[in-house]
Amino acid sequence: MNIQTPITEKGQLVIAKEILEMGGLVAIPTETVYGLAANTFNENAVKNIFQTKGRPMNNPLIVHIGKFNMLSKLAKNIPIEAIELIDEFWPGPLTLVLDRKEIVSDYITGGRDTVAIRMPNHELTLSLLREIEFPLVAPSANRSNHISPTDPLHVSESLGDKAPFVLDGGRCGYGIESTIVGFNEGRVTILRSGAITREQIEACLGKSVSEVDENSHPIAPGMFKKHYSPNTPLRIVGEITEVERINERIGLLFRSNPGTELFRNHRVLSQNGDLAEIAANLYYHLYDLDTLGLEEILVESIPKIGIGIAINDRLNRAANIS
Ligand code: TXA
Ligand code: MG
Repeated sequence: MNIQTPITEKGQLVIAKEILEMGGLVAIPTETVYGLAANTFNENAVKNIFQTKGRPMNNPLIVHIGKFNMLSKLAKNIPIEAIELIDEFWPGPLTLVLDRKEIVSDYITGGRDTVAIRMPNHELTLSLLREIEFPLVAPSANRSNHISPTDPLHVSESLGDKAPFVLDGGRCGYGIESTIVGFNEGRVTILRSGAITREQIEACLGKSVSEVDENSHPIAPGMFKKHYSPNTPLRIVGEITEVERINERIGLLFRSNPGTELFRNHRVLSQNGDLAEIAANLYYHLYDLDTLGLEEILVESIPKIGIGIAINDRLNRAANIS
């Protein structure tokens, strides 16, 4: 491809649509992370997602829709709580696990009776979804167990020569995956913490919701302990010390501006420690530091409130601690 002549957004959409209609894969931008997308109704294309990522076949995929009327084609017995959440948060970073209809293949659900569905909030991807006749299944566009990409370049870096055409929607705004919610006879459970906080969900529903126990058997089967990992070992610390600051073999991720000189192995997650900004920058800087061949990456601990809950979940997995 000639990198001198960037393709316009409209041109990119035409290419993406054509590839998907022919059964190929396209990396799509979302407000959370980039997804590796295929036609939901093309079994070979869906299987190709698992091969490209090196993902175990029993780890089910999220179906992305762009039109509300697609929901009832894919899911049944939709509870009132799901409707309330959809009204409030779609399009947006909230995935609902619902009873599936037959049309959703076992390859997508890993043989379960449920299907995970969301309507992503990214202008380019919404345009694409509204121009094609089928929804898009899409896991994060990284090789299995690696960090989710929040930038088009990171898709190519993670998937290497298996990387597909990337629909370039720039950096992802939230930078952390969607919140996944399940329903069981009036009980609402957060299966994976994410960009929408528990407080937001409880405020919308006017009742408390439960959260799966981190250490129990994962209900969202992708929630294995070692997940979202950089190649370089990651360690969480309270504060980065003076000694660590001058060690060029250690990558440093500061929670906020450290007020000292920064070196090539230093990154600041947010100048003023803003949690949403930290979420948006976390994977981005981790990818970056991971390419420097360092001995270790240290990250300062993040407050466990609001979106900080999801950030801590991902950090603990990346650092391989429970
Ligand atoms: O923000 C996101 O959710 C991104 C963007 C691309 O939409 N997608 C994403 O997909 O994070 P993935 O495949 O990396 O994670 C999907 C998670 C997995 O943990 C999977 O086990 C869970 O969703 N999941 C999918 N279907 C499920 C189901 N029927 N029941 C329970 N968990 C399910
Ligand atoms: Mg993933």
